[in-house]
Amino acid sequence: MLSFLLNMHKIVCIVSFLNLLGLLQGANDFSECVSPPMECPNVNITFWLYTRANKDNPHQLFANDASSIKSAPWVKDAPIKILIHGYTGWKDFSPNTEIRPAYMQCCDYNIISVDYNPIAREPCYMSAARNTELVGKCTAQLLDELVSKFGFDINKFHPIGFSLGGQVAGYIGNYLQSGKLYRITALDPAMPLFVTNDKNKKVDPSDGLFVDVLHTNALWKGKLEASGHVDFYANGGLTQPGCKPTANQSKSGCDHARAPVYFAESITTEEGCYASKCLSWFSYLIGWCEDSRSDDTILFGEYVPYNSSGLYFFSTNSESPYCRGKSKRPKRSNQESHLNDFYYLNWK
Ligand SMILES: *[C@@H]1O[C@H](CO)[C@@H](O)[C@H](O)[C@H]1NC(C)=O
Ligand SMILES: *[C@@H]1O[C@H](CO)[C@@H](O)[C@H](O)[C@H]1NC(C)=O
Ligand SMILES: *[C@@H]1O[C@H](CO)[C@@H](O)[C@H](O)[C@H]1NC(C)=O
Repeated sequence: MLSFLLNMHKIVCIVSFLNLLGLLQGANDFSECVSPPMECPNVNITFWLYTRANKDNPHQLFANDASSIKSAPWVKDAPIKILIHGYTGWKDFSPNTEIRPAYMQCCDYNIISVDYNPIAREPCYMSAARNTELVGKCTAQLLDELVSKFGFDINKFHPIGFSLGGQVAGYIGNYLQSGKLYRITALDPAMPLFVTNDKNKKVDPSDGLFVDVLHTNALWKGKLEASGHVDFYANGGLTQPGCKPTANQSKSGCDHARAPVYFAESITTEEGCYASKCLSWFSYLIGWCEDSRSDDTILFGEYVPYNSSGLYFFSTNSESPYCRGKSKRPKRSNQESHLNDFYYLNWK
């Protein structure tokens, strides 16, 4: 059974990879695809500071320009949340569009949106994936400057990356010289080209003191593999309730995009998304975790306890508000529906 699943994983990888390359949709022009040298700073990787004082008017930060850092409207001693988009994104694309307003609403924080759109454009998935390492390196360069020249506290930095951005977050951890990041969040970290045993080539627990990961479209655009100290699987982690294909978005695009949506809601929700522990994804799939009377439930998202570890599962509503609070224990409607999802996803 296990080898069957692993083989299926490989097939799904290849299909989803071809899909992302656009090869299944017809011809594309790959001549514009670029993989710049591993040198920082890079003109195509830019950093934009947002605070409540300038929430519609971001201040650009340059690692090699002290005046850009000194003149920035920093909120002194506040946390610094670093938001990192994925394939085809930019500073006003997921997860920025969901998470930035949520932080603005809750707290007066420093939000740095990383923008590497010119080297992450369609149809260049392969080079975009390769460029995540450069983006991580150049982001680490900025953070190292802030710490070494401007006295910033490394414990204030919290990178939050979506999809390919989740992999960038891991690379920041690899390249940072000032010390270890206290926390990294990877939202449905990208799977295609990141299925490897090499820990330096994918987000993993060694990238920060605490790495929390959310899975919403595993085996397709996102990874199924546990990648952090704690891994959350929303609604089983493969597909999301309420997601249907539309003119603008595929079904899996919707499933994948729920990751930043759930995280954003976790910042402002009063209900809270509570998740319960399960030993493995497979145990969950076959229904073993339903019977366990475990009261081991923790909050998913912004307020996850930093001492938590392992795999946690929660279910959501099919539309906003998604979080279901504590009273309703995470429960799958029935075991079959998830097996159906699984087959639908892989064999349809
Ligand atoms: C910046 O991006 C443009 C557009 O993709 C590309 O032509 C150029 O080579 C890139 N330069 C660097 C240094 O990344
Ligand atoms: C889909 O895209 C069209 C045109 O780009 C836009 O007008 C419409 O609002 C989009 N629909 C949704 C549901 O986002
Ligand atoms: C984590 O810490 C909280 C309080 O700080 C404690 O109640 C809880 O039992 C701890 N959990 C684990 C898994 O150690």
